[in-house]
Amino acid sequence: MNTNNRAASPLAPEWLAVPADLNALHQPLWAGDVDRNDDGELAIDGIPVSELQRQYGTPLFVMSEGDFRARARAFSDAFNNAFADICGGVDVYYAGKSFLCSSVVRWVEEEGLRLDTASGGELAVAARAGIPGADVALHGNNKSDGEIHRALDMKLGRIVVDSLDELQRVAKIAEGRGEQAKVMLRLTPGVHAHTHEFIATAHEDQKFGLSMAADSTDQAGLSAAEEAVAAATGYAGIELLGLHCHIGSQIFEPDGFAVAAEKLLRFLAAMQEKYSIVLPELDLGGGYGIAYTPVDTPRPAAEIAEAMAAVVRSTCADLGITSPRISIEPGRAIVGSTTFTLYEVGTLKTVRVDADTTATAGNQPENVTYPRRYVSVDGGMSDNARPVLYDADYSAILASRTSTAAPELSRVVGKHCESGDIVVRDVYLPEDVAAGDLLAVPGTGAYCWALSSNYNYLARPGVVAVRDGSARLIVRGETEEDLLNRDMGV
Ligand code: LLP
Repeated sequence: MNTNNRAASPLAPEWLAVPADLNALHQPLWAGDVDRNDDGELAIDGIPVSELQRQYGTPLFVMSEGDFRARARAFSDAFNNAFADICGGVDVYYAGKSFLCSSVVRWVEEEGLRLDTASGGELAVAARAGIPGADVALHGNNKSDGEIHRALDMKLGRIVVDSLDELQRVAKIAEGRGEQAKVMLRLTPGVHAHTHEFIATAHEDQKFGLSMAADSTDQAGLSAAEEAVAAATGYAGIELLGLHCHIGSQIFEPDGFAVAAEKLLRFLAAMQEKYSIVLPELDLGGGYGIAYTPVDTPRPAAEIAEAMAAVVRSTCADLGITSPRISIEPGRAIVGSTTFTLYEVGTLKTVRVDADTTATAGNQPENVTYPRRYVSVDGGMSDNARPVLYDADYSAILASRTSTAAPELSRVVGKHCESGDIVVRDVYLPEDVAAGDLLAVPGTGAYCWALSSNYNYLARPGVVAVRDGSARLIVRGETEEDLLNRDMGV
């Protein structure tokens, strides 16, 4: 163990502490079965990362199947317990957009969860995995007629309709087939949550959902949401199951979920009364946050579930209604921490930077520069677009060995032709990190593989799942042939 008391670099952001032990894993960022082995190498369920590199190459997404299943169960148990006395439990739809392949669909099904999809392609994965259509939901703000037909062919449990326009199309298509589509209406409750805080009066100005604001239609006092409820009750092709909302992603505090739940319940009760209907379902969406760095402290699922249950319980009592069946759609909170990305280090260079030019300059003396080490790895923004897209922070650890070298402020970058191609903006790594070392970046299970691209004709990495001490590819990495075989050459 190398205990050090080096001062923080003036170039480092304020939140980044110099780790007491550079070799230690901050466990909340990792799958439960990842640890260093007796040789000091990072291993997952006993399999050392060098072995994974030998078999599958790098970059590589390394996922713990056991951890995925455990997190899926834990989430589902927490919500089922909290809502047991309210509506007999909760239906948990895993949000496939975060990471989807047919193995994952099977795990989801085996753990008693359902599946949320957002396109015809995601439905194709669901169909390949053989999950019953009744356990699948389809989202999307611009579903094609083909996707709506596919949803009806697969007899989906729910189509989440996003607009009045789409409601009419779904109704017409279903009626034309002599069927009824099971529909939820996605509403925008005017609650926008982002990680630590939420805004309860904003966010009308976005593409998703039917507005609940009273001035959102031409008719005074009529919201787009109510207009859709009224229209849905009149279509032979629609079975209106209920209402849906999703307030954001990577949210830590339960307050925003609670405010949205109350607002939706009040609206649901008003619609039931006004149109003499029963809306048996209410979906409160996903968005539960995870830790990406040691300063992230998301609440445990049970705490969020209890807070949401308390609001649903008291609001239903206040309204004098029976609670609808509640469902949720977590993606990131189930898959995010199950996976790390394994990279090999290539080029290294150190630049000297004037602290005055950085955001955290503080009271640094003038004309003094500080080192920042650029550590290039063999992937980058093509396998993790989140730092570029959302300024997302990650952490990284030297995986192929331990080191007693001093910590050095480093920036892990990819191999793409963009200066913004950053994987981990700020992290302390041992100063002896060298070409050929392996780095692991935890927390890459959600929205990394899913958002991956072939920029610069890089092959997208494979995904390896580890279970009971053995590893297998669940998505193979692309080959050069894959990269070339859509090039028509004409
Ligand atoms: N339900 C709906 C309707 C959604 O739109 C989403 C995510 C989810 C559920 C799942 O949210 P989760 O529990 O995974 O936060 N690419 C961004 C996140 C986009 C989220 C899109 N919708 C990122 O990497 O942060």
